[in-house]
Amino acid sequence: IDKMAQKCVLFLLWLSGRSLAGFPNQINIGGLFMRSTVQEHSAFRFAVQLYNTNQNTTEKPFHLNYNVDNLESSNSFSVTHAFCSQFSRGVYAIFGFYDKKSMNTLTSFCGALHTSFVTPSYPTDNEVQFVIQMRPALRGAVLSLLSHYKWQKFVYLYDTDRGFSILQAIMESAVTNNWQVTARSVGSITDAAELKRIIEEMDRRQEKRYIIDCEVDRINTILGQVVSLGKNARGYHYILSNLGFSNVSLDKVFLGGANISGFQIVSPENSIVQQFLQRWERLDEREFPEAKNTPLKYTSALTHDAILVIAEAFRYLRRQRVDVSRRGGAGDCLANPAVPWSQGIDIERALKMVQVQGMTGNIQFDSYGRRSNYTIDVYEMRTGGPKKVQAHTPGKRFNLYRKVVKS
Ligand SMILES: *[C@@H]1O[C@H](CO)[C@@H](O)[C@H](O)[C@H]1NC(C)=O
Ligand SMILES: *[C@@H]1O[C@H](CO)[C@@H](O)[C@H](O)[C@H]1NC(C)=O
Ligand SMILES: *[C@@H]1O[C@H](CO)[C@@H](O)[C@H](O)[C@H]1NC(C)=O
Ligand SMILES: *[C@@H]1O[C@H](CO)[C@@H](O)[C@H](O)[C@H]1NC(C)=O
Repeated sequence: IDKMAQKCVLFLLWLSGRSLAGFPNQINIGGLFMRSTVQEHSAFRFAVQLYNTNQNTTEKPFHLNYNVDNLESSNSFSVTHAFCSQFSRGVYAIFGFYDKKSMNTLTSFCGALHTSFVTPSYPTDNEVQFVIQMRPALRGAVLSLLSHYKWQKFVYLYDTDRGFSILQAIMESAVTNNWQVTARSVGSITDAAELKRIIEEMDRRQEKRYIIDCEVDRINTILGQVVSLGKNARGYHYILSNLGFSNVSLDKVFLGGANISGFQIVSPENSIVQQFLQRWERLDEREFPEAKNTPLKYTSALTHDAILVIAEAFRYLRRQRVDVSRRGGAGDCLANPAVPWSQGIDIERALKMVQVQGMTGNIQFDSYGRRSNYTIDVYEMRTGGPKKVQAHTPGKRFNLYRKVVKS
């Protein structure tokens, strides 16, 4: 009788291990985080928890399960180690971040092994496969804003760690339109005194208009110097080439009378954002560091949306009865020749086909995994706080501008 019971239990285990048409009831995804992505890591775990606890039971859903690696450094040895350990654990897709140093290693592994990488990191300039880019390109929005303000002479401060695509676009437009652009890399500057020297030098050249193309922290450092040098008076204008406008400290800059413009991908009016924030702000800080008391970063919103995209893609594969289970032994990422994962192409295709509404609005991708059909809000700093003045959708002009400003 004991044996019978044992067999029965085994049979039930076997049944529960294989649901409909061999589709796994547990989808393992990888997570690659960096030292600076603490809040994003919390958003990732919270988004998975939201997905797992809010399922439509008639759909016989699967659970998302994750393996996380924290990259201490982005040298190619640690990146290779992290990627390979994820791959050998049989993850179906990897969510994570890259920087300039780790990007090439990561994207070439993903291409060779047909493993999709879903990322909120800056969009790559080249057309790579198996990379799903949650962050839309800002290039078009920046150029539209420049032509709206009719800038002819300005300073462009940039950080090459975010790629060269805006720099390239600005330089090309400068040639066509006869703009006078002074471009300066400020990416590797850690010394505030050096930033100060750059701003002073620009001032001697009568420069009053700046585009600052950096991450939020660096923008805040630069604007701190702007304020301490008094270059925030009336007549100065700063365009922040960043998707987190309302997360930059602008009050002091604005008090001097300077104009400040920028962009935002998370709309506070979006009901998905409001619902998320209601729960997020009540989370326990010990379990979800930087959830409470730290403003939500747009990269955390992109992280949440990446989980929506991953879940939606696997729901689609399940409905289509595509068997994604990994057969055979654990993958060896350094096998020579590389043995790509046979279901990798189906998964990549499903990820790129997703259309879903998230915290960053409508989410859709083109065939290179880049966001398409998205909206970036354009903001100007006003008395009383940042004000949305226009929305940029790729391929459309800013023709509603004046109407929106008046209303
Ligand atoms: C649950 O899923 C089924 C099948 O996909 C669908 O018909 C139904 O509308 C869903 N229910 C909810 C509440 O989303
Ligand atoms: C600053 O903004 C005000 C109001 O929008 C505008 O009238 C003015 O021309 C702007 N100044 C600069 C330097 O762009
Ligand atoms: C940062 O942005 C989020 C989302 O738009 C917003 O809710 C939050 O209040 C902002 N934080 C600050 C300090 O402006
Ligand atoms: C673009 O997104 C909107 C939703 O924001 C959707 O209604 C529309 O069908 C999409 N357009 C295309 C071409 O997919």
